[in-house]
Amino acid sequence: MLQDRFERKVTYLRVSVTERCNFRCRYCMSEKPFSWVPKENLLSYEELFAFIKISIDNGIQKIRLTGGEPTTRENLDELIAMIHTYAPKVDIGLTTNGFLLPAQAEKLKNAGLQRVNISLDSLDRGTLNYIAQKDVLDQVLTGIRAAVDVGLSVKLNSVILRGINEDEIVPLFEYAQGIGAQIRYIEYMENSHASNALKGLRSDEIIEVLGKSYSFIPIDKEVSGPANLYETPQGYRFGTIEPHRHDFCATCDRLRLTAEGDLIGCLYFEGAKSIKDAIRDGNRKKVTEILEDVVFNKPEKNFWGIENVEVSSRAFYRTGG
Ligand code: 5AD
Ligand code: SF4
Repeated sequence: MLQDRFERKVTYLRVSVTERCNFRCRYCMSEKPFSWVPKENLLSYEELFAFIKISIDNGIQKIRLTGGEPTTRENLDELIAMIHTYAPKVDIGLTTNGFLLPAQAEKLKNAGLQRVNISLDSLDRGTLNYIAQKDVLDQVLTGIRAAVDVGLSVKLNSVILRGINEDEIVPLFEYAQGIGAQIRYIEYMENSHASNALKGLRSDEIIEVLGKSYSFIPIDKEVSGPANLYETPQGYRFGTIEPHRHDFCATCDRLRLTAEGDLIGCLYFEGAKSIKDAIRDGNRKKVTEILEDVVFNKPEKNFWGIENVEVSSRAFYRTGG
C-alpha cells in the first residue's frame, strides 16, 4: 500500500503515453512545441507496462491513460490489453479529445478499457475550431457517439472561457444529459503554454448560470476524485473541478508518469524522479524505491490561491493534466 506523509493513500496512477497531440487547444498547447521528446526517449509499451505492474503490485487500483493525445500513439489497445490481462480488476480509463475514437472506440473497449473522459468545449463548429485550432466538431461528436455505442462509460470535460464559450454552459449540459454522460466543467488552469489573455470562469459562476435554467443540489464529493458533484431532481449528475481550491488537494490519491518515465507527485510542482533507467535495467527493487519515495514526498497542496503564484510552467500535455 502506498501512503504519503499526510496519510493520503495513493491508489491512482495517470500515465501519459505521449506528449504529442493532433489538436492545439489554446488553453493547453497553443502552439506546436519547439521540439518534441525524441521517440527513443519514450518508454515503450513493454517498459510502461513493467512499471504499471510494479505499481499495481504496490496497491494502484485505477489507471488512466492520458497525453498529449493518447490515441495518437500507435496501437494503444495493446497497452490496455497488457494491463487488463495482468489485472482484470484494475479500472482502466482514458482521457482523450475524441477525434480518433470513431476508428478506435471498439478496439479500445475490447482490449479492456472501461471509461473515457472526452474533452468537449463547444457544440459550435466555429468556436471549437477557434479553441482547438482545427475543424474538429463533427468528428469529435462521432467519436463521443462511438464511445457510448460500444458501451464505454463516458464523461465529458469542458473548460469554460470568458468571451469564447461562456454562452455554451447550458447547451453543453443539455447535450451531455441527452447522451447520458456526466459533464464536468473544469476551471481553466493558468499555464505558460496557453494563449495569453485567456480567462476562465470559476465554478461558482458556472453553477450560477446553470441555476437559472435548472434545479439541482450538491451531493457528496466524489468518492475518489476531484469533482464537486451535483444532481438534478431527475437524477442527472454533473460536476465542477476547482483546482484553485486547497481542499481539492486533501483527498488527492494520484501519481503521474510522463511518457519519458518521470514520476510526478503533484501536477503543480517541478519535482519528479525518473524510473526510466531502473526500468531499462530491470531493477525492480530500485523502481519500487523510487515509487515509494515519490509517494512519500507528495506535496501537501498546490500553490494556487496563494497570492502571486498564478501560473504553472510545466505543460499539462507533458503530465496529462
Ligand atoms: N486548464 C484546464 N483544463 C485543462 N486541460 C488541459 N489544459 C487545461 C488547462 N489549462 C484539460 C482539458 C482536457 C483535458 C485533457 O485536460 O479539459 O479535457
Ligand atoms: Fe491536445 Fe488535450 Fe491539450 Fe487539447 S487539451 S491540445 S486535445 S492534449
